[in-house]
Amino acid sequence: MDKKNLYISTIGCQMNVHDSEQMAALMEKEGYVCTDDVGQADLILLNTCSIREKAAQKVMSTLGRYRRLKTKKASLIIGVGGCVAQQLGERLLLKVPDLDLVFGTHNIHRLPEFISEIEKTGKKIVETSLSEKTPSLGILTPPRKSKVTAFVTIMQGCNNFCAYCVVPYLRGREESRPLEDILEEIAGLARSGVKEVTLLGQNVNSYGRSTKGATGFVELLSEIEKIEGIKRIRFTTSHPKDISDSLIEAFSQLGKLCKHIHLPVQSGSDRILSLMNRRYTKNDYLEKVEKLRRSCPEISISSDVIVGFPGETDGDFQETIDMMEEIRFDTLFSFKYSERQGTAALKMEGKVSEPLKKERLRILQSLQELHTLEKNKAMEGHIEQVLVEGFSKNCRSDVMGRTSTNKIVNFTGHGDLVGTIVPVRIKEAYLRSLRGEML
Ligand code: 5AD
Ligand code: SF4
Repeated sequence: MDKKNLYISTIGCQMNVHDSEQMAALMEKEGYVCTDDVGQADLILLNTCSIREKAAQKVMSTLGRYRRLKTKKASLIIGVGGCVAQQLGERLLLKVPDLDLVFGTHNIHRLPEFISEIEKTGKKIVETSLSEKTPSLGILTPPRKSKVTAFVTIMQGCNNFCAYCVVPYLRGREESRPLEDILEEIAGLARSGVKEVTLLGQNVNSYGRSTKGATGFVELLSEIEKIEGIKRIRFTTSHPKDISDSLIEAFSQLGKLCKHIHLPVQSGSDRILSLMNRRYTKNDYLEKVEKLRRSCPEISISSDVIVGFPGETDGDFQETIDMMEEIRFDTLFSFKYSERQGTAALKMEGKVSEPLKKERLRILQSLQELHTLEKNKAMEGHIEQVLVEGFSKNCRSDVMGRTSTNKIVNFTGHGDLVGTIVPVRIKEAYLRSLRGEML
């Protein structure tokens, strides 16, 4: 039998990137081979994101391109997974009639079954049930290529219902994976050469909370710390209200835990934080930052901010700016508020106009550029331990790696260094990366 080609395209977050890897691993077991050339594909899977309007629009334009390929190859199967699939279900088939498959965020494990059915019968399939248990969470995917870093899902879903966010509706309630499964997966990754794992979940700090008598997040970290071969542990994302003192302490106690935390703040105004249903105040957040920096003075802190949430005044926005000046984040991901179906914010008053959102975003991003550059420049002359991940994007005689604080470093070096941690002196700092010299 001829080999069949699979092309996967991913829109959205690390969670989706990881889900796509799982889809690829499942279909490779069925004899599919991954290709980078969409024109060669017998099966196209689009893993979608709908966290903001822009991502959802990208899904539609991408699907428009794929549909045209069907006119050349009638047997081509096109499937859509992820959050847009979850949200629209049958309606996606009405919008894009050439689709063969729509599958939700809890149905990834059934992908081989769906594809085999479509191949046999040619029937269209829509399956988006958010079952109470999440079998997709239990998929153990062996590493497909030798890799230095890997993502590991430790929990799915979210119980927080922030007023702007669709995730709880599309990914269901919080559910933690059993500790043993996670440790088994990471031990397997370590045996295949992986050196760094990033633990994934919408709110990793509440790991274990949904399972009776289960282990908490810090215990999970301590267990992973014991796995031979794993040199570094990262995690994302954290909710400020759930960061415990013991997790803050872990940054000074667990040698493998990287000195970086992504701690989305969303706004510096207490009034807006309350409307967002974030359940912390600006001072609570500042206090957590102070404790983190006391526990681990080198820690780098990144965050997310939304501008133009309904009711955000110039004064509220100024409070966000003031907080940024006070904290000085290493990096900041900032977004214009985007209305999402089914969320509480949709009905709130005081919509902010698009030009004003744009202007606030511009002000915030130019301030952040100053802070990022200032933080990076402060590293010039320092010696950093860098885990080499591969060759640099632009130059094959350079390698690229990351510091424990999650800064990208490029330096001249041989491919043999990949997978090792080496000391590098930082020579020059830029906005998005550092240039170094191996010692
Ligand atoms: N509009 C704008 N930004 C959003 N985010 C989540 N939902 C929305 C929305 N409706 C941002 C938040 C979150 C990040 C992943 O995406 O900042 O932390
Ligand atoms: Fe969305 Fe809030 Fe849950 Fe994060 S914590 S996924 S922003 S609802």
